[in-house]
Formats: sequence, C-alpha cells, structure tokens
Amino acid sequence: MKIYKVEHITKSYYKNKEVYPVLKDVSLKINENEFVVIMGESGAGKTTLMNCLGAELEIDEGCIYFDDQKLIDLSLKEKREMYQNDIGFIFQENLLINTLSVFENVIISCIGKKDGKQRANEAIKKVGIEHLIKKYPNQLSGGEKQRVCIARAIVNSPKVIFADEPTASLNPKSTNDIMGLLVKLNELGHTIILITHSIKVACFAKRLLVISDGNIVTDLNLGNKLSNVNIIRDAISEYL
Ligand SMILES: Nc1ncnc2c1ncn2[C@@H]1O[C@H](COP(=O)(O)OP(=O)(O)OP(=O)(O)O)[C@@H](O)[C@H]1O
Ligand SMILES: [Mg+2]
Repeated sequence: MKIYKVEHITKSYYKNKEVYPVLKDVSLKINENEFVVIMGESGAGKTTLMNCLGAELEIDEGCIYFDDQKLIDLSLKEKREMYQNDIGFIFQENLLINTLSVFENVIISCIGKKDGKQRANEAIKKVGIEHLIKKYPNQLSGGEKQRVCIARAIVNSPKVIFADEPTASLNPKSTNDIMGLLVKLNELGHTIILITHSIKVACFAKRLLVISDGNIVTDLNLGNKLSNVNIIRDAISEYL
C-alpha cells in the first residue's frame, strides 16, 4: 500500500530578498515497508525533502499525501498526532538529553501514554540496549547513543522512520550494527527513508533515489547487498 504520494513539489529558501530554489519539481511514490535511500551531493536538498515529507517544513507548490491525506490539510492537532504516532526521526548527531537516563530519554517520546513504560522497555529491547537502561548518555559510546535515538524514534511504533545520516559519526563496526538494526526494523514492517553519503550504507536499502539540481534524477530498485555497490556507484557517479 502507498504511504507517500508526492506531486510536483517545489521548495525555496529566501535570504535577503533572494530566492534560493532547492526542490524544483519533485514527484514520487513510496509504498509501505519500502527501504529507500536518498543520495546526492551536499546541498542537493536531501534533508529539505525529508523535512517536507515529515511535515517539518511547508512546501511552496505541489502536494504531499501521507496515507492518502494531504499534509497541508492537517490541523495542528493532527500534525502533532502524526509526529507522535506515525513518524520517527533519527539524526546524525544524537539529540539525547544528558541529564536523563537511557530509559528516560526513550520514554520522553510517549509522555501521556498509559502504556508508555511498556513501550519504552520494548523499544529498548528491540535495539538491544537493555543492559544500559540506567546509564546516562555521557557514559555511552557513539553507537550505543545512536541505538538510544533509534529506540526513541520507534517507541510509538511509527509507520515511517526517517534517518538523516544516522551513521555519519560512527565507526565501521557501529555503522554495520546500526544498519543491521534498520534492516531488522524494515523487516518488522517499518518503512525506512534514509539519507547517506556512503555507498556502503546505501547498500542496505532496497531502493535508491538520487537528487540533483532540485529534482530526482535516479530512482532505482536495488538487489542484493553485494551487487548494490557497483549499481549505486554508477548511479551516483555523475552527480557527486
Ligand atoms: N533554513 C534554511 N535557510 C536557507 N537556506 C537553507 C536552509 N536550509 C537549507 N538551506 C540551503 O538549501 C540547500 C539544501 O539544503 P539541504 O540541507 O536540504 O541539503 P542536503 O542535500 O541535505 O545537504 P547535506 O548533504 O550537506 O546535508 C543548501 O544550499 C542549504 O544551504
Ligand atoms: Mg542534509
């Protein structure tokens, strides 16, 4: 089933009365349970597109449907519900609160929910950090902190997990662990939309989108992880 339908969207930023177009005419469809990786050179508009899909940014023209509903039609309350229940974000820098424990950093995303404790415990278990539950962020490694962020992003069982360069500050071992975890979450039914500059990381995805000059210039299904390296390298070589 379709989860996103994006029709001819544009998005510009305005600085000192100058217009900087970033997304010029982007259309795409994303089905439930896809694992999409977005690549493209720095400044191409990857994060901007992700923020438009996540309803963090308003588009200028065109239309984005999430579950057949126009994002622009959502009331503030509906948007808040979407943030709480339907989507989860994982960023490059983990945005953990240092004065809260691992458990508290996760449960914070389901404040007010009766089964919050149970949800937090389940999410923490899913990402394999039960043993760290009482620790504080400054007592954790980069990979462990990123697992806490993933637990926080999945605590409400969102349909879509957005990950903006989630492994950019991790070593190769932690990168593989985190990507393995995203693959597992995708197998459990979550739709994953990931941004990366790394071909190795992109290989874990099932579909590649490349953005260049404000448009999607490549949209490819990916096969098995080993053959993906060359496919991705060829697809992005002329744009990076
Ligand atoms: N809030 C903003 N105000 C003005 N310009 C912005 C703003 N956010 C982003 N931009 C500009 O829009 C362009 C696209 O930015 P975006 O963050 O989407 O790129 P990106 O593809 O994610 O790049 P990177 O790989 O470096 O993260 C860049 O030129 C950036 O400078
Ligand atoms: Mg970015």
